[in-house]
Amino acid sequence: MTTLLQLDGISKSFSGINVLDKVNLEMQAGSVIGLAGENGAGKSTLMKIITGVYSKDEGRLRLRGEEKVFNTPRQAMDAGIAIIHQELNLLPELSVAENIFLGREPKGFLGLINQLIMHEKTVQLMQRLNQKISPDQTVGSLSIAQQQMVEIARALSFDADVIIMDEPTDALSERESEILFQVVDDLKSQGKALAYISHRLQEIFKLCNEVAVLRDGSMVHSGATQDIDEDELIRHMVGRTLSEKYPYTAAVPGDTRLRVENIHAPGVNDFSFSARAGEVIGFSGLAGSGRTEFARALYGMTCVSQGVVEIDGTAVSIHTPGDAVSAGVGYVTEDRKGEGLIQDHGLRSNMTLSALSLFQTKYGLIDRRREIDAVHKYIEVFSIKTQSSEMPVAQLSGGNQQKVSIAKTLIPGPRIVILDEPTRGVDVGAKREIYLLIQQLKEQGLCILLMSSDLPEILGISDRIMVVARGHVIAEFTREEADQEKIMHAAIAREEKCI
Ligand SMILES: Nc1ncnc2c1ncn2[C@@H]1O[C@H](COP(=O)(O)OP(=O)(O)OP(=O)(O)O)[C@@H](O)[C@H]1O
Ligand SMILES: [Mg+2]
Repeated sequence: MTTLLQLDGISKSFSGINVLDKVNLEMQAGSVIGLAGENGAGKSTLMKIITGVYSKDEGRLRLRGEEKVFNTPRQAMDAGIAIIHQELNLLPELSVAENIFLGREPKGFLGLINQLIMHEKTVQLMQRLNQKISPDQTVGSLSIAQQQMVEIARALSFDADVIIMDEPTDALSERESEILFQVVDDLKSQGKALAYISHRLQEIFKLCNEVAVLRDGSMVHSGATQDIDEDELIRHMVGRTLSEKYPYTAAVPGDTRLRVENIHAPGVNDFSFSARAGEVIGFSGLAGSGRTEFARALYGMTCVSQGVVEIDGTAVSIHTPGDAVSAGVGYVTEDRKGEGLIQDHGLRSNMTLSALSLFQTKYGLIDRRREIDAVHKYIEVFSIKTQSSEMPVAQLSGGNQQKVSIAKTLIPGPRIVILDEPTRGVDVGAKREIYLLIQQLKEQGLCILLMSSDLPEILGISDRIMVVARGHVIAEFTREEADQEKIMHAAIAREEKCI
């Protein structure tokens, strides 16, 4: 095998804290190396060093045997290294084609941008990814999954030899993920060197012939994937063995907490179901099925035009997220960068922003002590890896940002919690913490609405499962009845009938 990229003794600190410690890594032509590790282990930082986003403090990077120093992402790109970043990096107001070719627009006569070529190349990339996305659409009007596809198209457009994918399937449905897997296999057989980061360990086993594990900034394992099983991989990641993946005990449901009857809203079409206190309801469906649109309507982000929403037997009208919070509804959005968190604010202000009144003294001042105690409680419960409660959210690793989003929703003490893809980008250990927390909240009588594209997760922790298609609940299963096949079958049958 030919080594395309070689890292020797890479170290990196942020404000005196060591994040990577003498890391070695090799990427071979025609090989996919999986990079695993807990949230905050240093995976994205290492990839950002390879792609010139961050500079290294120590160590050497060699490309095809030649030592290189990349001071900007552009230099890495020109050397043939492409990356799909974990957090989407697109400009929402520009078109799909403009985003893909930003800074590298094909030029024609008089140095003008050749729109035709840009358009044509974008169409080809979208065909390769099996997407019906027009080159002229603005990126802001696309779903997160589609935006992720644009990000993937951009990385492919470089025709780079070294390609890094940092949790690329995070925002994708099963169907779209399958397309990406095919692309990964194609690139591998074309002799490219790929690095693939994912918390979905099945994907690592499926796609990668090699695997490397980072723990607290050190490379603790690397070798062939066929020589290791999932339990051993987890043990390398977390340094211990984890028991049961989906902790679950049957619910003792109380009275009906939420009744939704025939509601209509943007993307939501005659949506009905009811949920009791102490129940976890899982919502399954293909990307674009309307799960998120329903969540947004219930949380007052879009307008419910018809139908009834009742909470604890009382009809409520929710027009804004503020109304939703007062009615006892909390929402952890799937788009933590766009809607969930204020990136340059610290953890504390993000977590307590929508609940400051809870910490007010009778003179209207904020009781900082109580506020900080609440924040520390969640830092501890979720093992959030941060230097302090004031660290800007942008500097947290992806998975740790997700934990902050969940804490923020729980602090006001909601009765109904909508969790939209709550374990996206979260490592195995922390996933389990989140499941345990869902279990605890359920035992305290909260009603949890779980939207997830991870079917095993839905099956593992829900009491009842609703299948959503075309903005509508089309099938309902009890935990005992449900299995992967029945759910996929229900979702796909409906989609196909409507085409
Ligand atoms: N710009 C920065 N300033 C300060 N600390 C940072 C910065 N970027 C990353 N870190 C810290 O470096 C550590 C490693 O983060 P990194 O994003 O590499 O983790 P990761 O392995 O990709 O995690 P995840 O699985 O959650 O994405 C974290 O503790 C993070 O808070
Ligand atoms: Mg990361």
